[in-house]
Parts: sequence; structure tokens; C-alpha cells
Amino acid sequence: MLNVIHFDEITSTNDYVRENASFLTLPCLVTAKQQTKGRGREGKSFYSPKDTGVYFTLLFRASENFDFITPAAAVCVCREIKKLTGIETQIKWVNDIFLEGKKIGGILGERFSVKGESLTAVGIGINLTTKEFPEDLPLASSLGKEVDKNQLSLSFANSLLEINKRPNREEIFTEYSNRLFIVGKTVSFALNGKIFRGKAVGINEDFNLLVDCEGEIFTLSSGEISIRTE
Ligand code: BTN
Repeated sequence: MLNVIHFDEITSTNDYVRENASFLTLPCLVTAKQQTKGRGREGKSFYSPKDTGVYFTLLFRASENFDFITPAAAVCVCREIKKLTGIETQIKWVNDIFLEGKKIGGILGERFSVKGESLTAVGIGINLTTKEFPEDLPLASSLGKEVDKNQLSLSFANSLLEINKRPNREEIFTEYSNRLFIVGKTVSFALNGKIFRGKAVGINEDFNLLVDCEGEIFTLSSGEISIRTE
């Protein structure tokens, strides 16, 4: 049974599950109408104004062989958006949700230990009708459609928990690859203090990005690299 907790306002649903994990009944879905300290990857903030986006975190015990959680989460988000609105969204490696070349949402996957047990938190933020963004987010955009936020978060949680029961890497791999819009594009990334430029040529079975830099193929793993498209 999924335990659902809703807040009108909270700092961050990811922070809430981390701080309260020891007494939450799992799996647990925490949603909020607004976040005052929404977080993204690489220490960035995630702008989460009241009611114009959907913000939630799913906390659960991941199966041992479910080691592709964030790609699976990205695929589930795209599927739910398609079901509810008919809109096809894309994925910018690693796990940003894009529409027409602009970021409309993201995924913050975190793993931590509570009383010796490893727990996984998957936080999702999607801009639905947000029109104005802070100046430092020139590439941010919105889906441009209101959706039933409860339905989106609940069906997402149920779909991801289903995959957790029977992880099917191939199915997710195929859909993730099909939704990746970075392939074929020139990208740049920093590695050991040096900037590299090359062409994204695809992903390998571990969802690492393969970049061709003048004939040398670099295999980039999500934890280490921030990638820019040109
Ligand atoms: C990113 O863009 O790098 C990831 C954004 C993740 C935002 C969501 S909103 C709900 C949850 N709570 C947070 O503080 N972050 C995630």
C-alpha cells in the first residue's frame, strides 16, 4: 500500500523524506503545492512556485537488481505526461525532461541509509503552467497544460513501484533511448579540469553517454558529468 502525504508548502519534498525516513511507512509518496527550497542536481535549486507545477518525492526500498532507477523514472514521467495530455516529451541525458528544446522538469534521485537500511528517494518536479522563471534559468519552460497533479504523482509512483517489483532493463532502455534528444548533437563536458567537445552518439547498456571526440569515444557516467548541448 502506498502511503501518501501532502503539504501545501514545504522546503523540499526530498529533504522531508530524508529527515523523516525513520518513521515513514514505505513506500511513501510526499507531494507539495509549493516548495520554498526545491533542490535539483549538482546543488542547483529547483524553482517550485505555488500550484503551477507538480512537485513530489517517492521514498521506497529499491530491489537489488533495480540499478537503473533514474532512467526508469524519466521514462515513467514521460509516459504519464503522454497519458494525461497527449504531449510527447523528451529526455536530456541524464534525467531532465524537455519539451521543444527547453527544460520543463527534472528528477533528483538520492540514496541514503536509515538504521542500516538503504532507501531510495526519487524527486520529480515538472513545470506545468509556470510562466515566469528566475533570470538564471533562461532555458526553463513549462508543459503549457494543466494536469491532474494527484493523478500524475500517483500513477508515476505506482508505475515505478511496479518496475521495482519486476525490473525490465531492456524495455526501459529502448524507450529511454527513443526519447533521448541529445544523440547526434554537439555537446561539451568538463573532465579532470579540461573542457571536451564532441558528438553524442548514444548510450551503453548502463545508460552512460557515449561521446565521440575526434574519434576517441568517451563514456560518461551521470554522477560525474554535467553536459551542455550547443
Ligand atoms: C533537476 O532539475 O536537477 C532535478 C529537479 C528535481 C526537483 C524535484 S521537485 C520535488 C523534489 N524535491 C526537491 O527538492 N527536488 C525534487
